[in-house]
Amino acid sequence: MSPEVAKIVAMLNLDQKLSLLSGADDWHTTEIPEVGLPPVELGDGPHGLRTETGVDMVWIPSTCFPTASALGATWDPELVRRVGLALGEEARALGVDLLLGPGVNMKRTPLCGRNFEYFAEDPVLAGDLAAAYVQGLQSTGIGACLKHFAANNQETLRTEISVEADERTLREIYLEAFHRVIHTADPWAVMCSYNRIGGVHASQHHWLLTEVLRQEWGYPGLVVSDWDAVHDPVAAVSAGLDLEMPGTGGRSAFALRRGLAEGTLSEAAVDQAAARVIEFVRRCRPDGAPAHSPVRQAGIVPGAPLSEAHLAELGAETHHELAREVASAAITLLRNEDGVLPLDPDSDQRIAVVGGYARVPRIQGGGSAGVNPTRVDEPLAGLREFAGDRTAYAQGYPVPETDFYRELAPDLSDSDELREEAVRLAVESDLVLAFVGLPLSSEVEAADRTTLALPEDQVQLLTALADTGKPLIVVLAAGSAVTMDGWHDRTDAILLTWLGGQGVGAATAAVIFGRADPSGRLGETYPLALEDTPGCRDFPGVGGRAIYAEGVFIGYRWYDHRNLPVRYPFGHGLSYTSFGYSDAEVVASTPETVELRVRVTNAGSRHGAEVVQVYIEPPHSADRPERELRAFEKVWLDSGESRLLAFTLHHRDFAFVDATARSWRQVSGTYRVCFGSSSRAVRATVAVDRPDATRPFRDDAGAGSTTAGRGRVPAVGHGGGPDASRAPDAV
Ligand code: BGC
Repeated sequence: MSPEVAKIVAMLNLDQKLSLLSGADDWHTTEIPEVGLPPVELGDGPHGLRTETGVDMVWIPSTCFPTASALGATWDPELVRRVGLALGEEARALGVDLLLGPGVNMKRTPLCGRNFEYFAEDPVLAGDLAAAYVQGLQSTGIGACLKHFAANNQETLRTEISVEADERTLREIYLEAFHRVIHTADPWAVMCSYNRIGGVHASQHHWLLTEVLRQEWGYPGLVVSDWDAVHDPVAAVSAGLDLEMPGTGGRSAFALRRGLAEGTLSEAAVDQAAARVIEFVRRCRPDGAPAHSPVRQAGIVPGAPLSEAHLAELGAETHHELAREVASAAITLLRNEDGVLPLDPDSDQRIAVVGGYARVPRIQGGGSAGVNPTRVDEPLAGLREFAGDRTAYAQGYPVPETDFYRELAPDLSDSDELREEAVRLAVESDLVLAFVGLPLSSEVEAADRTTLALPEDQVQLLTALADTGKPLIVVLAAGSAVTMDGWHDRTDAILLTWLGGQGVGAATAAVIFGRADPSGRLGETYPLALEDTPGCRDFPGVGGRAIYAEGVFIGYRWYDHRNLPVRYPFGHGLSYTSFGYSDAEVVASTPETVELRVRVTNAGSRHGAEVVQVYIEPPHSADRPERELRAFEKVWLDSGESRLLAFTLHHRDFAFVDATARSWRQVSGTYRVCFGSSSRAVRATVAVDRPDATRPFRDDAGAGSTTAGRGRVPAVGHGGGPDASRAPDAV
């Protein structure tokens, strides 16, 4: 702790110190004006600002950006950095000091109800994009809170479930995205998760919060609990938790005082946690004054629209444009038979636009991440800007729920009638654009999905539309994978718009009419069936335990290892143009790094984007994934243009976790480096020989990842608290 902070700690009495260790209320830290500590506000997060009006479920308007799985599909750190920056500007305008995001949990199963809040099934993609988000956000002077640490991969029994995973699995898959972000972007806070790991709650897990996070990774920032995730305050503070949220009205301070009296809690642990809270508060509010927000004052009249001046202060206009840009960059063209897309805006085709989501798009999921958008682009209106009265609309299926941000337009509810009306419209038209997707109730906090299929009435609609024989283009809204039985093969094109935020309507129209290239790529595998997915047999666990028997084999690692066919592989997405790969080479190879190059050329006739994905294939080994993503770059090229891309891989990129030797181990042998346009579309390869080499875990604060910012904080020695939970054993 710095000398100034030590001085403040020394000035505080025990009650004051204990009061800092839990919130003053739902969203604020405790103020101590006597020593210049104002309250700091923590606010959700992650794809928009959710600030209270004082009326339940009514939030001050703010920009609803695409959710994390859509950000994941952009594969574009620079764009995600700009989202972070815009979020920071809005947080500042609204008087929020710490934004509760991003979430970098792995999409272990597509059933997880909160997958829309997570970037990917791969830690490199999730970690590098989240690092960019954190850098953008924190460049505005607003803190990021990386969550949910760790292994929070299901919502069923989320506060009790015990994740039973071996140490290698945790380190290679479930901790790695956190490590990358902490290593390169220095988030001001980390939020521990609700679940247990090896029987111990994350909020009370010494191995996780102290040995790995602080001692190995050198993390200097604040550790805050997820809301109500602390069960035993003494165990939590001893394990390395600094701030319990929300406030408990003095209950936790009482328990901590008793712990001190009984000797189960050390005063040093209290001082340490208090010091970290003080450091955090001073970082958030260097002027020592609480945030002041005129926009917030104006916005607390529930339902009142913000004035032009307040919208301007929020940056609403430019942020809406950014929301559209990001939504467009995420849109993923899964299928495009005979180049049916893009549509020609100058043709005279009559277009049947079918589906309630064409009027009220799915822009986000439900729960603590829900945002009250400043405005929402309607897809149908966007299409009409290109095709005018050549379009006609039919609702197609009942949209039963009311999205909390907006009442649904008048809703007919008889499934058969709606379908028949849509089919009649299709028959009179030249082609069909069918807007379908998961219902809001499938993508919420605190509940998981039970099926990967679309709702039955939507499936029936799609088959009935296909029966008309008209070209069928499906526009799919989903924050997590869906299965496509019964309709996939009967479509001409499938455009995945994710949960694309408030600009998704205009972005979708622009892609459909070729104004923008569909440059999104899948950050998760689309399986053929639920039964094929990793972990599905054990999901959601038995007797309160979720056994991660698949080990490191999640996502594409699983399908490749089992040689299973998939609907669409990780990294897949089509462009309106095409790309060639050439000149792949190893430029230099040292014991520490491998420098690589590959040339990518736009061989088609339109401007477009390619996402070049770099995978390593280790020498054959039964317990290593066949192929793992290690780097990527998205490039925009004009027709005929080519670019030479350079990548640097590090020791860690070739290594696996050798838990017995407490190290990352690179085994000697020949590795193949694959440049691909998906995990299953390898376009160029090179071979590289690597020597045997290990790096102890305790060097992780300085160990290499493929992004910048290495060697920030030296590791400190190991230690144990009263509740020194152990590293998980193999299962
Ligand atoms: C969620 C967090 C969220 C917090 C505050 C919890 O239930 O898990 O992600 O930031 O609530 O709303």
